[in-house]
Amino acid sequence: MCGIIGFIGNDALAKILDGLELLEYRGYDSAGLAVRKEDETDTQIYKCQGRVSDLRKIIPNSDASFSCGIGHTRWATHGGVSDVNAHPHKSGKVTIVHNGIIENYALLKEEYELSDKLVSETDTEVVAALLNKFYDGNPKEAIKRTVKKLQGTFALVIMFDDIPNTIFAVRNVNPIVVAHGEGHAILASDPAAIYEYSKEYFVLDENVILTLEPSAYTVEDFDGNQVPVEFTKVDWDVTSTGKQGYPFYMAKEIDEQPSCIRRILSNYLINNDIDFGFNGELDKALKKYNRICIVACGTALHAGMVGAQLFKKWCGITAEVEMASEFIYSDTVLDENTLFIAVSQSGETIDTLEALNRAKEAGALCLAILNVRGSSMSRVADMSLYTDAGPEIAVASTKAYTTQLLMFYMIALKAGFLKGKISEDYLESAIKNLKQIPNAMAKVIEKKDDIHRLSKEVITCPDLFMVGRGLDYLVLMEGALKLKEISYIHSEAYAAGELKHGPIALISEGTPVIAAVTQTNLISKAISNVKEIKARGANVVLLAKNELKEDFSDEYHVIGLPDLEDVYMAFPEIVALQIYSYFVSADKGLDVDKPRNLAKVVTVE
Ligand code: AGP
Repeated sequence: MCGIIGFIGNDALAKILDGLELLEYRGYDSAGLAVRKEDETDTQIYKCQGRVSDLRKIIPNSDASFSCGIGHTRWATHGGVSDVNAHPHKSGKVTIVHNGIIENYALLKEEYELSDKLVSETDTEVVAALLNKFYDGNPKEAIKRTVKKLQGTFALVIMFDDIPNTIFAVRNVNPIVVAHGEGHAILASDPAAIYEYSKEYFVLDENVILTLEPSAYTVEDFDGNQVPVEFTKVDWDVTSTGKQGYPFYMAKEIDEQPSCIRRILSNYLINNDIDFGFNGELDKALKKYNRICIVACGTALHAGMVGAQLFKKWCGITAEVEMASEFIYSDTVLDENTLFIAVSQSGETIDTLEALNRAKEAGALCLAILNVRGSSMSRVADMSLYTDAGPEIAVASTKAYTTQLLMFYMIALKAGFLKGKISEDYLESAIKNLKQIPNAMAKVIEKKDDIHRLSKEVITCPDLFMVGRGLDYLVLMEGALKLKEISYIHSEAYAAGELKHGPIALISEGTPVIAAVTQTNLISKAISNVKEIKARGANVVLLAKNELKEDFSDEYHVIGLPDLEDVYMAFPEIVALQIYSYFVSADKGLDVDKPRNLAKVVTVE
């Protein structure tokens, strides 16, 4: 998953570097850019292993003003992490940056005898060499001929030496968004890099050619026909894209969660009812469908797991939940009687996108729960519900998870009511509970220092276990992922009732365990499981409602949580776990926002 950017306008070098910093969360093992002066054809290329901050260091100070360029932050796929494998790649008159994977690059290298023209190990350089081979002065013809030879996924951004002030782009699966305004034109992998230039953008269609110039752009299909574009407006506060004084984006995004939840509630709770719009089309589907299939990856999958629990509780429906990478390679039965729900913050995760495409082909009704408007999944789904959480820059998902959760709470409540499974009174009371969630989350955030103190105990621990029952277990799966991905502590969530069937063998003197005991009907069983692991030497921290904190504080360290009704405890509980994980990572001196080996958007299978 890489970040790509193209910019035409004043001060292009600085603008590309700033844009790369906003895209760096998509991949950050190397970075590079290529820039040109106005009306000139000489291309300056700077690239290196490392972060954008390292790239800045190798760019000579000069008062040269560049007016056109392309840039790239890399998450290595073909070819190791090195200066020579960093993008851009230049071959003859062609300079390109690429996001995606060209699956037949080795065959193309052989078929067109390109090996002697290559210096890197990347698939991208093969594309540059092929483009250059086909280029005879007609850029679109060269692009068309090249693209027809490619198998795989790509977002290609291209400059030709003898065509100044112009950038070309073409894509298949991997996204490109485009904005054009007074004195500037910009394209990027996702809107995060273009917000400061424009509050509206269009998504480039697949297999069409964008020609971007200072004062114009054209989008043409491969037959040369003009292709209309559809603009997406963002209502996010575009000034919110910086850290605003926080040490890491994750800290800011944790704190943003109460206001994100409030925004969604105000968008969808109308006259004390849950109104999704769509002219009632979604309501009809929620009433009709009794087969629900939820597919996602990572954090989004964990939100889907809670969603399935809610469909069971409020609708009496068993919803299937599958990880997208397994779903697309397994035998699945989908048909026109299935409501398929894809969950994705980015709307670009390739496994989830592929699953959504399969569901669409099978005739299922496809609903997407997304954060990024205009994303690839929004263009496939029949209906998209937007969490509108604003740009989530930290690789570790926080506000995306809690806003996805809230979507599932509202969908399951509405479906239960429409199916006659829950009464109007229950729905009204549930809506009152939903309105208490933001304050409950804010109260946990206010106690971050207490949580920080407890988190210090595990900084040097190699392993940590999280145990709980019912809803607690599902939330702990997300909590364990948070700690794992940003602190590199091997943390796993276990169903407390399952410990005795093997995992309890992992408990020894001093093993750190976080036990969540917020579900009243399960608390006695959960506590007896906790006693079993404490008896074997575990250091246990409890996550419990404030009303029970006193009962446990003699025996355990307790993180007290605001007393919501059991089923809503997922929200304060996950905020506590996010804060806990954040401080472990920060206190270990790690890059909380950009953990090793990870990238924010997984656009490779
Ligand atoms: C979670 O913190 C990670 N960022 C990762 O698991 C992420 O949730 C997953 O890659 C899915 O991303 P998406 O929501 O953009 O599809």
